Amino acid sequence: MAEPLIELKNIYKIYHMGDEEVRASDGVSLSIDRGEFVAIVGKSGSGKSTLMNIIGALDVPTEGEYILGGEDVSEMSDDQLAQIRNKMIGFIFQQYNLLPKLNLLENVELPLLYAGVPVQERKERALKSLAKVGLEEKWKNLPNQLSGGQQQRVSIARALAGDPSLILADEPTGALDSRTSREVLNFLRQLNEEGNTIVMITHDNSIALEAKRVVRIKDGKINFDGDVKDYAAIIQAGN
Ligand SMILES: Nc1ncnc2c1ncn2[C@@H]1O[C@H](COP(=O)(O)OP(=O)(O)OP(=O)(O)O)[C@@H](O)[C@H]1O
Ligand SMILES: [Mg+2]
Repeated sequence: MAEPLIELKNIYKIYHMGDEEVRASDGVSLSIDRGEFVAIVGKSGSGKSTLMNIIGALDVPTEGEYILGGEDVSEMSDDQLAQIRNKMIGFIFQQYNLLPKLNLLENVELPLLYAGVPVQERKERALKSLAKVGLEEKWKNLPNQLSGGQQQRVSIARALAGDPSLILADEPTGALDSRTSREVLNFLRQLNEEGNTIVMITHDNSIALEAKRVVRIKDGKINFDGDVKDYAAIIQAGN
């Protein structure tokens, strides 16, 4: 069997607030294969962002092992984490995080610039990526000249430009109305059908139901991990 893309083994993230200990991740084990579309769902404070930061190599766990693409990320330095992120992960954030003074092409080019891709190739790949989200004709525009949904599509183009192993989306529809949310979700589904591995963080069950597999977090622990159909059934039953 092929090795999983993501392997979290008994992950703890523990914060100390005075005398109090907060277990933001409390023994999480999770394995995600290439090509999966997984939603990580949970209420506010359940530990989603904590887990997203670890999966996204933005932070390291207090305890436990994280293997991403065969590499042990758990004890990497900040510089090594930055390299891994650049090489392997495309991020999509709730607030798009586009740079307001750069045009769309320049925004999409940024991760390629950091990765040291030469200028001409950078432009070509960024344009191709913008074309994938249907915005290549607007490449000269600034982000604030676009609608929210279009801006989120640019951020998806930016995530795709580096040809990442993993697309990590944090509340990708959190700032969008329901129709635009649907478009963005359809788009993520299409990217998954084209072979991309997607992990999407959300507090919203109706969004989680768009994935193929759901992992639910409560108090820093996984309390459901399974097929989306089984998840739909248990929330239908009120669990
Ligand atoms: N830097 C920190 N220092 C102390 N406690 C923290 C820190 N970051 C998170 N926590 C605590 O860890 C727990 C999980 O937080 P986390 O941000 O992962 O939740 P979340 O599921 O992302 O919530 P939300 O949906 O509101 O974003 C919470 O109790 C939170 O207060
Ligand atoms: Mg959060």
